[in-house]
Order: sequence, then structure tokens, then C-alpha cells
Amino acid sequence: MLQFNKQKRLKHLLTIDGLKKEHLIEILDRAETFFSPNGEIIQTDMLQGKTVANLFFEASTRTRSTFELAAKKLSASVLNLDISHSSTSKGESLRDTVRNLEAMQCQLFVIRHATSGATHFVAQHVNPNVSIINAGDGCHAHPTQALLDMFTIRKHRGEFHKLNVAIVGDILHSRVARSQIHALNILGAGEIRVIGPKTLLPSHAEQLGVHVFHDLRQGLQGVDVIMMLRLQLERMQRALLPKGGAYYRQYGLTSETLRLANKDALIIHPGPINRGVEIESDIADSPNAVILDQVTNGIAVRMAVMSLLVENAKKSL
Ligand code: CP
Repeated sequence: MLQFNKQKRLKHLLTIDGLKKEHLIEILDRAETFFSPNGEIIQTDMLQGKTVANLFFEASTRTRSTFELAAKKLSASVLNLDISHSSTSKGESLRDTVRNLEAMQCQLFVIRHATSGATHFVAQHVNPNVSIINAGDGCHAHPTQALLDMFTIRKHRGEFHKLNVAIVGDILHSRVARSQIHALNILGAGEIRVIGPKTLLPSHAEQLGVHVFHDLRQGLQGVDVIMMLRLQLERMQRALLPKGGAYYRQYGLTSETLRLANKDALIIHPGPINRGVEIESDIADSPNAVILDQVTNGIAVRMAVMSLLVENAKKSL
């Protein structure tokens, strides 16, 4: 498979699908080592002499910034290509852009693209010493987001097999949800539920190994972890939502609907959050909502992924 080298070590990180439990645990355990006892993220020289190229063809606050911080914590040089002022606007293809950056001796590429499969395409064409990390491709996958979500759940709630997890909202357009579902299945979560209106769930969602609920109040009963999602309005081709405030009334996580989940249910959200659209503002800021801790954990998890890929590349020489 494209993600692995001849020694079956991870070469690129394109999707969670196809990884084994030991791959995920290795990344989560490695991420833990980047925290000092007082919770600060440490500086290391693991990527000294390497250059990481950040190529974001779609908007980002968290992923782009935490990849940059993670690369700097590993002592790599970082190149943030400003796509709007790059030669993409003159018609240069993604492949040619990457080839030119390879010629500038970038070894790791972090790529976000609106087209599903864009990072797979790039990974098929790069030099053997180069690794690609998918930072989100279309509606397909966002593997480092799922990994940082798993890290956060494990840190706050421990073993996955004891946890019932609900993913709520716009599953249909969510690369995050797809990656989370793969990760939760691989890690053996107790029960995985998806909750949303029919128009925002993929057909045959059950085939992903989840239980489907259209009623939030039913779906939240007995749940230990609630993973909220933003409505991806930019990916909706037609009206898929109840009108006005009806979506919030039916699917919003509020103090009233939260009461139906298990006591102290953990609340996570990949961000950006839309207060009063999918989540009540006070709930987003409540102690069981660890949304900002996810962001911090994202630095360590991305350090783990980048350092592992570079180590694996060295071992394969
Ligand atoms: N969670 C996430 O991908 O956020 P950004 O779009 O800000 O990177």
C-alpha cells in the first residue's frame, strides 16, 4: 500500500484506513513523550537539517499553525507556501509545485487540498526520500485530526473499549468524521454512533461500523464521549438543512441535550466551532469540553507523525 515502504514502515500519512492498532498506539505514545512533566511541549533536534513544506490550498487556523509549531519544536526549517501568491495562480499544477519544492530539498510535505485524493496523487509521484502528510483532502480524510482526537480521548478517559462515542452533525461532508470512525474502530471503542439528519449522513453509513441515529436525544443516551462537528456549508451543493434555527433545536448540543449523555461526558470538537449553530456557547466553554486541549495536543501528535516518518525514511536508506 502507498502509505508503507518496502520494510512495511509508515512512509506517508494519507489516511487512517488501513493502519493497524500498533501504528496508532505508536504515534499516541510518541506524542506523550513530547510533553514535559509540567505539560509544556519540549524542544528537540529530531528534524534538524530537514525542511517541512506547508501547502494549504484551503483555509486553516489550527492544522497549519500546529504543523508549523510542531516542525519548529523538532528544529526543522519550515516553508509556508502562500498559495494565493504562488505560481498556482499562473496555472502551475500541484505536481509541478511539489516537484519544484523537492528541488529546494523539502523532505516533508504537509498538504491540504479541496480535492479528495489529492495527497494520494502527490505521494505516487514524489522522490523516495520524501514523505507526504495529508492535512485534509476534500471530504475524504484528515488523519492527524483523528489522531489528536484519539490522544485527547485517551488522556481524559482512558481505555477505548469502555467508551461509547457519538459523532454528531454533518457526517456526510466531514473528512474528520471518516478518519475518526476508522480510528475508533481500530482502537476498539465500545460503541460508535453517528447522529445527524438523513441529508447529512452518508448512505449505508452502517457499513463504516457505526450505529446510526437521526434523533439526537436518543443517540446521546449512554454516551461517554461526544464529538461535535461543524456544518460544512461550503461543501453543500444544495439545501440539506432544516430551515432557520431548526438545526440547532434538533441537533445542537445544549445544556438540555447534554443531560441525556452519561455524567461527565467528554466533549470534543475539531474546530472551528460555530457557537449557537451546533453547540451552545456555555457548553463549548464548560470544563468537560476539551476543545482547546485538542489544539495543544495537536502539536505533540504532529511532532510524533513527522518525527516517525523521517525516522522511517532514514531506516529505509
Ligand atoms: N480542525 C481543523 O482542521 O481546523 P483548521 O481548519 O483550522 O485547520
